Amino acid sequence: MTQGERRTPARRTVLGAAGATVLGASTALAAGTGTAQAAAADRGADRTPGRGHGYRSLPVPTVIGHRGASGYRPEHTLGSYRHALDLGAHVVEQDLVPTRDGHLVCRHENDITGTTDVADHPEFASRKTTKTVDGVTLTGWFTEDFTLAELKTLRAKERIPGTRQENTLYDGRWTVPTFEEVLRWAEDEGRRRGREIWLHVETKHPSYFRSLGLGLEERLAKLLRRYGRHRANSPVFLQSFEPSSIQRLAKLVDAPGVVLLSGPSTRPWDFVEAGDPRTVADLVTPAGLRWIASYAQGIGPTLDLVIPKDASGRLGTPTTLVRDAHAEGLILHPYTHRNENTFLPADFRKGTDPTAYGDSFGALKRYLETGIDGIFSDNPDTALLAAADLTARD
Ligand code: G3P
Ligand code: CA
Repeated sequence: MTQGERRTPARRTVLGAAGATVLGASTALAAGTGTAQAAAADRGADRTPGRGHGYRSLPVPTVIGHRGASGYRPEHTLGSYRHALDLGAHVVEQDLVPTRDGHLVCRHENDITGTTDVADHPEFASRKTTKTVDGVTLTGWFTEDFTLAELKTLRAKERIPGTRQENTLYDGRWTVPTFEEVLRWAEDEGRRRGREIWLHVETKHPSYFRSLGLGLEERLAKLLRRYGRHRANSPVFLQSFEPSSIQRLAKLVDAPGVVLLSGPSTRPWDFVEAGDPRTVADLVTPAGLRWIASYAQGIGPTLDLVIPKDASGRLGTPTTLVRDAHAEGLILHPYTHRNENTFLPADFRKGTDPTAYGDSFGALKRYLETGIDGIFSDNPDTALLAAADLTARD
């Protein structure tokens, strides 16, 4: 099923080529074409046959490889991104931060202490510093204090070696990729695999970086235009926890925007800086969602906003968020699914080892049954099998 087909009365099962790959199918099933909504979204369409149908043509639920396949490889490396595609992910995620000389690089945060070997480089020892980023005080090494050439002398490593010891096998194998390298990689992979390679690109700490003269959105838009990913039907989502970043991007490019939503009591950092009193709880009301829909095409809520947990950490009753967001025409890409017990709801943990895998399929079934359009997963192969289970029952 695709998002376009979701709007037909009879639900049909249509796995994308990626889903067919993970299921071991010999022939990739064609993803369906979009609806009138997709056609309406086709401003500036790429007319290459078989391509350019836009986000409404993606399989639903869409599996987004979170930071690549970060359950199996150090996050935000070309190795992690490639493995996500090999496992069948429909979309591969990048988080973006800038270097001192204004290049966009793929890191979950600007503090690179935990995901690179920077601490082992005596030439950079004096760069260790303490900063406040979005109200949080951090001590470490930061991308904005390094030129790209300097950053490229570092090697990426596993963020949580205590939980993912096996991933440390790959420590030091890859550098920190630039976003431009990822765009080129996606072109190469697209040619090799004969399909569009979808990206889900997040601007990290956009207000903070703008205050340093390192605005992210213009740089991102320039790269998207250079590589032809700036259109409404381009194979890319643009996401941010700061709504103003998505609003800014919407003025620069036509690619679909997704507003990320954290816990209900939190406020986006741009709201804090602007004195906007609204919290995420306000944004998930019908009025809040309508406001988001005025400039974005989707939301990326925490999974807890879709199904809250009770006091013991067990899954409770789904909220009305899926219904309410769909009523405003917004898709939902919640985050983040992971297989390990420590990340699963209490009722889906198995045994007492927090690093062991729990009943990940059981948890995914509950989340996917809510009707979400996609999910960010560190383990895209697991999520794809759960998605196939769901569509097989339709
Ligand atoms: O962007 C979706 C999800 O990745 C948001 O959480 O903190 O992993 O970037 P984070
Ligand atoms: Ca992200």
